Amino acid sequence: MTKLTDKIEWQNLLNNVSQVKNSSLRELFKDSQRAEKFTVKNDNLKLYIDYSKNIITDESMKLLIDLAKSCDVNSYAKKMFTGEKINWTENRPVLHTAIRNRSNAPVYVDGVDVMPQINAVFAKMKDFTEKLRSGERVGATGLKIADVVNIGIGGSDLGPKMVCEALQFYADGPKLHFVSNVDGADIDETIKQLDPATTLFIVASKTFTTQETLTNANTAKNWIVDKFGTESVAKHFIALSTNKTAVEEFGIDSNNMFEFWDFVGGRYSLWSAIGMPIACLVGFDKFEELLAGAHEMDKHFLNEPYETNIPVKLALLDIWYNNFFGYETHAVFPYSYYLSKLPSYLQQADMESNGKSTNRDGEKVDYQTGSIIWGEPGTNGQHSFYQLVHQGTKIIPADFIGLVNPPKKVGDHHEKLMANFFAQTEALAFGLTHDEVIDTEEGLISYKTFDGNRPTNSILIDELTPYTLGVLIAMYEHKIFTEGVIWGLDSFDQWGVQLGKVLAGRILPELSGDKNSMHDSSTNALIREYNSKHKK
Ligand code: F6P
Repeated sequence: MTKLTDKIEWQNLLNNVSQVKNSSLRELFKDSQRAEKFTVKNDNLKLYIDYSKNIITDESMKLLIDLAKSCDVNSYAKKMFTGEKINWTENRPVLHTAIRNRSNAPVYVDGVDVMPQINAVFAKMKDFTEKLRSGERVGATGLKIADVVNIGIGGSDLGPKMVCEALQFYADGPKLHFVSNVDGADIDETIKQLDPATTLFIVASKTFTTQETLTNANTAKNWIVDKFGTESVAKHFIALSTNKTAVEEFGIDSNNMFEFWDFVGGRYSLWSAIGMPIACLVGFDKFEELLAGAHEMDKHFLNEPYETNIPVKLALLDIWYNNFFGYETHAVFPYSYYLSKLPSYLQQADMESNGKSTNRDGEKVDYQTGSIIWGEPGTNGQHSFYQLVHQGTKIIPADFIGLVNPPKKVGDHHEKLMANFFAQTEALAFGLTHDEVIDTEEGLISYKTFDGNRPTNSILIDELTPYTLGVLIAMYEHKIFTEGVIWGLDSFDQWGVQLGKVLAGRILPELSGDKNSMHDSSTNALIREYNSKHKK
């Protein structure tokens, strides 16, 4: 297979970037059609995406689309949706799309339709959440469950936590808490505010072997068992996992386990039983609306031509800056309080998927792959790090995400919020020239000028509902997928997290003083220093 960087489409982009790199957005916007040309509006998805404030020309966009075509993005998408084993290092299909396949059309894995098993788990989730929310399913002392604590980490935490935060406005169920960190402070600070009689723990772990989650789950179990005895575990714990044996070994009956499967990657699992906290908080019907939004985006991604395909466009723009301009980070700035956890969710979704350097042929790549993703809610960022975004030496392409209508109108807050969104993208694109700086002492003019040409995508969502949130998340998932295909990566494994886990396992007994350190001089000295002062 031709190496990515040897492809004619790649070479054409290299030529194009040398012509386009120094163009200014002020110049490019002399084309009065530019905003219209570089906007995708989709009423069905309730999205309006303006990518005109990027350093691209018609020709650059065409050449980027040529690259996507030459890398067969659409055929790979079809392979994913139809259950081919595209996660080749783990020999697994990748079917988070089947979980939200609202058409219920069969999806086969090794000749077996997976839809009936997906539907069966959803029926069990619906029944459970309805009983929990109505008070029919109670704790050991017969009291209604008031607090639900999700114990999980990575994909078993970030997705449901982000969605629960985003859908807070619709919350009408028990109060949700999330414990992920193995630092004892996390579980301790959480349970100290709770009444064990009215608390349910969800132990969420795909593998049910994750040290952090099992440690927290055991602490929670001791807390409950100390009060109400071993029998009470059945009333206060449920598990979300693929590993029935480990769940039972932990002491949770399989009747209280909600299953998912190896074909759902951890960071793509919020659509599966891992979404249980969401269904507890807002009800199963709203959870289904979330799935429906994602399914709608799935259809768009699969069927829309590259030219108007939203995830493909966003992926190509990221590749443009990452590979042809050398920009290393990509920021996500939600102008919505409800979406404040989106950047940290996307860090795992994107960086665990595409933070890799070995391609399909098992060779080291000779080009950049996954960007560094970071971000914060927009107006807060404006008063902390936007200085660097506007005038620093680094260029940071950014997604600005805002709502046309907030879930609730509070005075004129929303107008002020969105005025900031539009002002920031305008300022970043067009800056302020020397001549435009007014009422300033001569010596300060250079400090007060803004170069502009800082690229942004403006993503407007009609309103924040479970449906549009599903659309938004799936949009990013498919953006990540598209980039992974072009870079030739397995976006669905995560070998890079293993070494640290193995070494931590080796070091743990050394911290109890049971073993001698056998590491490099720095690590040995750190362990010695810790052991000499740590109070046992
Ligand atoms: O260590 C990384 C990781 O495997 C993630 O991919 C995953 O989301 C997280 O750990 C939690 O894994 P599990 O759900 O199996 O506990």
